[in-house]
This record gives sequence, C-alpha cells and structure tokens, in this order.
Amino acid sequence: MITSSPEKIEDVKLDATLRPQSFSEYVGQNKIKRNLDILIGAAKKRKEPIEHVLLYGPAGLGKTTLAHIIAKEMGANIRVTSGPAIEKVGDLGSILTNLNDGDIFFIDEIHRLNKLIEEVLYPAMEDFKLDIIIGKGPSAKTLQLDLPRFTLIGATTRLGSISSPLRNRFGGIHRLDFYENEEIEKIIHRSSRILSVPVDSAGAKMISLSSRRTPRVANRLLKRVRDFTQMENCELITEDLSRRAFEALEIDELGLEPADRHILTTIIQKFGGGPVGVQTIAAATSEETETIEDVYEPYLLQIGFLTRTPRGRVATELAYKHLGIEYNKEQDKLF
Ligand SMILES: Nc1ncnc2c1ncn2[C@@H]1O[C@H](COP(=O)(O)OP(=O)(O)OP(=O)(O)O)[C@@H](O)[C@H]1O
Ligand SMILES: [Mg+2]
Repeated sequence: MITSSPEKIEDVKLDATLRPQSFSEYVGQNKIKRNLDILIGAAKKRKEPIEHVLLYGPAGLGKTTLAHIIAKEMGANIRVTSGPAIEKVGDLGSILTNLNDGDIFFIDEIHRLNKLIEEVLYPAMEDFKLDIIIGKGPSAKTLQLDLPRFTLIGATTRLGSISSPLRNRFGGIHRLDFYENEEIEKIIHRSSRILSVPVDSAGAKMISLSSRRTPRVANRLLKRVRDFTQMENCELITEDLSRRAFEALEIDELGLEPADRHILTTIIQKFGGGPVGVQTIAAATSEETETIEDVYEPYLLQIGFLTRTPRGRVATELAYKHLGIEYNKEQDKLF
C-alpha cells in the first residue's frame, strides 16, 4: 500500500526533513493561513496566548505541520501528545501542570480521547483550572489548581466523532481541504530540492496527478519514483520514468491503487453498486471499517467515485467508467 495516507515509519523520517517550518513554506490552505496569521498577529500584540484551535481534515493534508508552525510563529514551546496516549486522568494532569504560560499543547487524534479525560479537559480549556479528587468515598475532597494560560491545538480526521462540549471550547475550527494539483506540484518541486532529487516539470506534474491531492502521498511517491529512476540509471525524474514507476507500482493516473479498486469493484460486483453499508464493505474486502472511512473513502468521495447515502455507499457512474464496467442503473431510477 503506497498511496494511502496514514503515517508509516519511513514517513516519520521523511516528514521531519520535508516538513515546512513557516507559513511561507507551507503551500496552499490560504484561507486557514490568513485566519491564523491574523489570530497570531493580534494575540502577539496583546501579549496573550491564542485561543484554542481545532484542525480537521483527511490524513496527510498537513494538520500536524500546521500545529508546529503555529507554535513557531507564536515563539511558543509545543508539547505534543495524542488522544490514545493519554490513558489516565493523571497523565493529563501531569502534562497540564507542567506547562508554562503561552505554551502550545498539541493533541493529535483528539477524537480518540477517553470521555473521562475529556471532562477534565473542559474546565482546563475554559477557565484554566484543574480539578483533582483526593481520597475515595465520602471523605474524598476536590482540589482546584490554577493552570498556566496555554493554548490547546487539537487535530482530527473525524470532526463528527468529537463531542459538542469539546468542540464548543475551541475558538477556531479549521477544515483542511484537498490540495489543487498545482499546489501539489509546488510541494513536489520543494521536496525535490530538499532531497536533491531533480525532477522536470512534466515529471512533477505526472507525480502530482497520482498524489490524491495529498502532500504526504506526493512526498512518498516522489521517493518511490526516485528509487525507480536510480534503478534505471537515470538522474532526472521525467514524465516517462514516473509513468513507468506507477505502472510497476499499480498506481493509476488518478492515484488509485489496487486496494481502492478492490473496494470499488466489490461495491459494484457484489452489491450491485450499492447502497451498501461501510461495515459490509469492510467485511467483504477484509479491510478495517476505520481504514475505509479514514483512508480510502475521503478521496473516493472527493473525486466523485462514491457517494454517501443514509442507506450506505453508492458507486457512481464515474467509478464504473474508470474501471471499465458497464453502467446500466438507469432502470432503477424509473422505479
Ligand atoms: N502545506 C504543505 N506544504 C508543504 N508540505 C506539506 C504541507 N502539508 C503537509 N506537507 C507535507 O506532508 C507531510 C504530512 O503532513 P502532516 O503530518 O502535517 O499531515 P497530517 O494532516 O497531520 O496527517 P495525519 O492526519 O495522518 O496526522 C508533512 O511532513 C509535510 O512534509
Ligand atoms: Mg498528523
């Protein structure tokens, strides 16, 4: 699986070298950058921390990167953790009490935070207070600690899984969108300079078309194509070399890989094109429901190959066409 977006071990290293360090290096997402720039500028003038920020959108679009840039632009320290890593209320308590005024506290995958912990977070976010319960039973006492004025940045691929009390405590909620192809090309050129892998403009365009409009995928494909190019004893990545690399990797011109095609053909051939529930699709393709929802589906929805209905997922005519399967669902519409 090459084009799917979740982080892999090799990405962690790759991400560290390629991760933009400032808004000026961060390509695209202009609306969010503008909003954050104003927010940060105003907060700095007032010498106050910025309000809590929630970033959401599909994997690999740059949420973590943005959180680090915000901290840098604020000149603040950043403390990084993730929803599933905070197992006990005490874990959260010890992080919060160790923060300093103005620090950024970044919780990745914040939708996976346990409910008990979420409840401790509410007063911390709202009033910068931490309630601690000492002792057990009728003699238990609540102690309230003052916390430093920190800024929470949350990131999630699933806004819908965040409870409304938590959502309401964020001052700004920003959705990251899939990138335009030209923006992806820019990112590929930037990465090629950093990694010293020369690519010509047709080569970069070719790679961008298969990058699922996602920076992380673009960087990963660039590396794959570089390997292929070196195997061919060439130095410059061209359109032709990229095309041949993708053929070898079974990635098509829309960036779909075998697993995407398997999901689509399953919906079409086993379930008459849908509607079919995501759990059923998962069982029929031996994928996890969550992987389908977080990794494959967002892009398939984005390019209009799938639609979501109350009764489940439906493969569209575009998907049939792409897979070379005849579409004869017109009769259905008559009934
Ligand atoms: N706007 C951008 N400009 C240039 N490169 C980017 C941009 N956004 C992301 N990248 C590149 O893509 C990589 C992945 O981005 P990042 O880790 O921030 O994604 P994410 O949204 O946090 O993903 P996940 O949901 O999987 O945590 C980064 O390391 C960076 O190299
Ligand atoms: Mg991330």
